[in-house]
Amino acid sequence: MTSLHVVILAAGQGSRMKSALPKVLHRIAGKPMLHHVMDTARKLGAAGIHGVIGHGADDVKAITPVEDVQWALQEQQLGTGHAVAQALPNLPDDARVLILYGDVPLTRPETLESLVAQVSEDSLALLTVTLDNPDGYGRILRNDDGRVTAIVEQKDATDAQKAVKEVNTGILAVSARHLKDWLPRLSNSNAQGEYYLTDIIAMASDNGVAIAVAQPANEYEVQGVNNRLQLAELERWYQRQEANRLMTEGATLADPSRVDVRGNLSVGQDVLIDINVVFEGDVTLANDVSIGPNCVIRDATIGTGTRVEANSVIDGADIGTGAQIGPFARLRPGTRLADHTKVGNFVETKKAEVGEGSKINHLSYVGDALLGRNVNVGAGTITCNYDGVNKYKTVIGDGVFVGSNTSLVAPVSLADNVTIGAGSTITRNVDEGGLAVARGRQRNIDNWERPVKKD
Ligand code: UD1
Ligand code: CA
Repeated sequence: MTSLHVVILAAGQGSRMKSALPKVLHRIAGKPMLHHVMDTARKLGAAGIHGVIGHGADDVKAITPVEDVQWALQEQQLGTGHAVAQALPNLPDDARVLILYGDVPLTRPETLESLVAQVSEDSLALLTVTLDNPDGYGRILRNDDGRVTAIVEQKDATDAQKAVKEVNTGILAVSARHLKDWLPRLSNSNAQGEYYLTDIIAMASDNGVAIAVAQPANEYEVQGVNNRLQLAELERWYQRQEANRLMTEGATLADPSRVDVRGNLSVGQDVLIDINVVFEGDVTLANDVSIGPNCVIRDATIGTGTRVEANSVIDGADIGTGAQIGPFARLRPGTRLADHTKVGNFVETKKAEVGEGSKINHLSYVGDALLGRNVNVGAGTITCNYDGVNKYKTVIGDGVFVGSNTSLVAPVSLADNVTIGAGSTITRNVDEGGLAVARGRQRNIDNWERPVKKD
């Protein structure tokens, strides 16, 4: 047996979620649970991934635009055995098959690897867990030698069987050849009138196929989600693992319970992350970066020693070393800030490339702009980049000084070392070293008599 095929059951309704969204599309760390399971399958190097879908099948497919998944439709939910059977025609005979669940999102690949390693033509492998309260789960039955002989569902169990605390997680690995032999022979004469996947355990035992058992390192790895409370519990566990990883890699977290990672965050050493920071997408923080409280940072790279102050929102930005951002800055996609730049409070940037040492300290909008080195953009400067239809570019050379409250009406360019007087509306290019002032000239009237109120 060579290739590994993963079958993911995701056809159930999940009525206890009380949701219009299919259960497996509810998110942990910003990602649908089903996608966590698919990513796990990919990490295991699966040659095939098979999604068994039913309730909300179209929504599930629409949110999963991937080419490495083969879908199997289970029109009626007649049981877990019936669900796996829907994928059978797509499984090569010589495959090892791992059964996972779209609502059990956080099983570690290491746990599954050791399970899959135990599968052969004459053995299957079962993941079990021992619970203080086994209520609701299928119980693992063993003979006097301690060998597994069957799984009995709670609803079919005798009182003695219900006392067993070792339960079925549902996750198992088995050869496709055995599945093709056993699944067509399942019967639904049981308390729930369902075709139970779990009945293949007794068939294996009867056929002299060895049943190997593995257990996960942590119960959360096999916890399923049936309602939003369990969803929140798994979210917290996931986030705690992420926080632990970040600290292990050299980040100080002001409070490990108040940082959320919804994507891939990589950190250097001596990174500081204050409370209530949310990371989304792919974010890289180099050594000595510090992130103030209440920041949202998505798809960004931030260079060594850069400080992001409180309440900043960074999305699709590339920031150099020793920069200073915020508080209350908003960097939008296409922002590229070179080393030692400053973007201060209430500044919004978008598609803006800012050269080394340049500063946009207060209350500005800089979009579709190219700024050279050591530019000083005064408070309240706006690039007027949009005429209602088209976007235009503003180009600013090295050493330019833009006075406060200036409108730069694009397309426009300011050559090196230009000075712009405060309050200007700049519509024409300015040559190197020039001064442009474009505002109403001040008129002073002496001894002005103010109007007085009539009785
Ligand atoms: C199942 C196991 C039980 C185990 C428990 C762990 C069986 C018969 N029982 O019970 O031993 O302890 O999981 O949580 O397998 N599904 C389908 N199509 C179906 C039926 C189910 O896709 O026709 C999917 C569901 O969406 C769900 C999963 O399979 O994700 C488990 O189904 P569920 O009915 O919840 O099984 P349990 O009764 O919990
Ligand atoms: Ca269940």
